[in-house]
Amino acid sequence: MVKPKRILIAGGGIAGPSCALLLARGGHRVTIVERARHLRATGQQIDVAGKGVDVVKHMGIWDALKERSVGDAGIKFVDQENRSWADFPVSTGSTAASFVKEIEILRGDMVEVIYERTRECTEYMFGDQITAVTDHGTHATVSFERSSVRDFDIVIAADGLYSRTRDLVFGKSAVCIRSLDQCAALMSIPWEESDGTWSRWCNAPGGRCATTRPRVKEGLTGAYLAVMTKDSSRLARMSVEDQKHEFAKLFADMGWEAPRMVKEMMNADDFYVSETAQTKVESWARGRVALLGDAGYCPSPVSGQGTTLAFVGAYVLAGCINSCDEYHEALSKYEEQVKPFVDKAQQLITGVPGIANPQTGFGIRVFYSFLWIGSLLNGSRVAGLLGRLLAPLAPMFGKDLELPHF
Ligand SMILES: Cc1cc2nc3c(=O)[nH]c(=O)nc-3n(C[C@H](O)[C@H](O)[C@H](O)COP(=O)(O)OP(=O)(O)OC[C@H]3O[C@@H](n4cnc5c(N)ncnc54)[C@H](O)[C@@H]3O)c2cc1C
Ligand SMILES: *[C@@H]1O[C@H](CO)[C@@H](O)[C@H](O)[C@H]1NC(C)=O
Ligand SMILES: *[C@@H]1O[C@H](CO)[C@@H](O)[C@H](O)[C@H]1NC(C)=O
Repeated sequence: MVKPKRILIAGGGIAGPSCALLLARGGHRVTIVERARHLRATGQQIDVAGKGVDVVKHMGIWDALKERSVGDAGIKFVDQENRSWADFPVSTGSTAASFVKEIEILRGDMVEVIYERTRECTEYMFGDQITAVTDHGTHATVSFERSSVRDFDIVIAADGLYSRTRDLVFGKSAVCIRSLDQCAALMSIPWEESDGTWSRWCNAPGGRCATTRPRVKEGLTGAYLAVMTKDSSRLARMSVEDQKHEFAKLFADMGWEAPRMVKEMMNADDFYVSETAQTKVESWARGRVALLGDAGYCPSPVSGQGTTLAFVGAYVLAGCINSCDEYHEALSKYEEQVKPFVDKAQQLITGVPGIANPQTGFGIRVFYSFLWIGSLLNGSRVAGLLGRLLAPLAPMFGKDLELPHF
């Protein structure tokens, strides 16, 4: 057993609390500071696959997640006239060809499950954030926006893609948020009979795409409005009110289900805008501070690997801290061991996400024809490749990397 440490984690999303759970098992005193005043238990479907599943089992939350898991009957690609071009039912063919994930769950349910398991062993500070971290050689002194100054041995920044803790410690110049020129608005709207049980995906000129994902039992439908735009980083950083206004403008003339989605968007309380972007940082540790999850290496939603990578990162970081007495040794081992997973997850197929979001009507017809052919092939390589292109509805499967043992 290593010497117990005082560890501060910024961000009560998925990566932070997962790491806290495993660090508490190592006997450390863990504090989580979350900027929001309450647990942000919202979001649409996310999935865990590959090595993320092993981590979830190791954390002892597999059954709880499985119990709450949701699934699609399949996905239909339709045009603006609601004509179906290609259908992909789930659970036919190989895993790579179908759209089945090992666990598919609403983000909010996953956040709640992890929070419930950590609240006993972790101190939560809501409605606050770090304003300064000063290393004193033997420990770091941390200042907060609202709480008083405290000392910690290790600080972990798990505060998402736009991590302020990271920018504070590493400096903005050391961080690159690589935009893939796409922005998506996600929300839940009331389910309607015509939504059925299948997910439906509809492309429109201008790189626009609207998707519905019914959750019949809840009486809700997940609604996604995605657009290819050079303006994605500005869109993602606007106020929620401005974002709703922008998306309404962008989708006003799209037809299909978009007018209904735009109308319901105004009342949606789980509205969330996601920039399709990757975090690139040269190093994930500086002094006593380590980066974890999207803050350090967001692979972007189109990789389908964000949550899986957050779990793997949390497992490796906690494992290194739990097995090394020296913080710098632990953090450098973490960097070294998590790197192959990050490199793999951040490798996107060339042209993604533009390929699945053509700019012109002609481009859309070509794409849909390709899908139609794909839908006729069963379990073949082409269908597998299509599956990869259609992320975020499908993850890239990676089974060859091995998790380290601690
Ligand atoms: C509300 C919400 C909804 C989401 N919905 C989806 C979705 O529908 N589909 C999808 O693919 N991905 C979604 N994501 C992103 C997804 O959760 C992550 O990409 C992935 O799971 C990695 O998790 P993470 O813990 O690194 O980051 P996140 O899950 O983003 O968690 C980061 C946490 O840090 C908090 N935070 C931010 N800044 C600070 C700060 N300065 N100090 C302290 N805390 C801070 C945030 O409030 C958040 O709770 C959502 C994220 C959030 C926050
Ligand atoms: C498709 O593949 C599945 C499983 O691999 C098989 O059961 C099914 O019969 C196949 N369907 C067709 C049309 O080939
Ligand atoms: C669109 O097609 C789906 C089936 O794919 C159907 O359930 C729905 O009612 C149709 N919507 C409209 C507006 O016709």
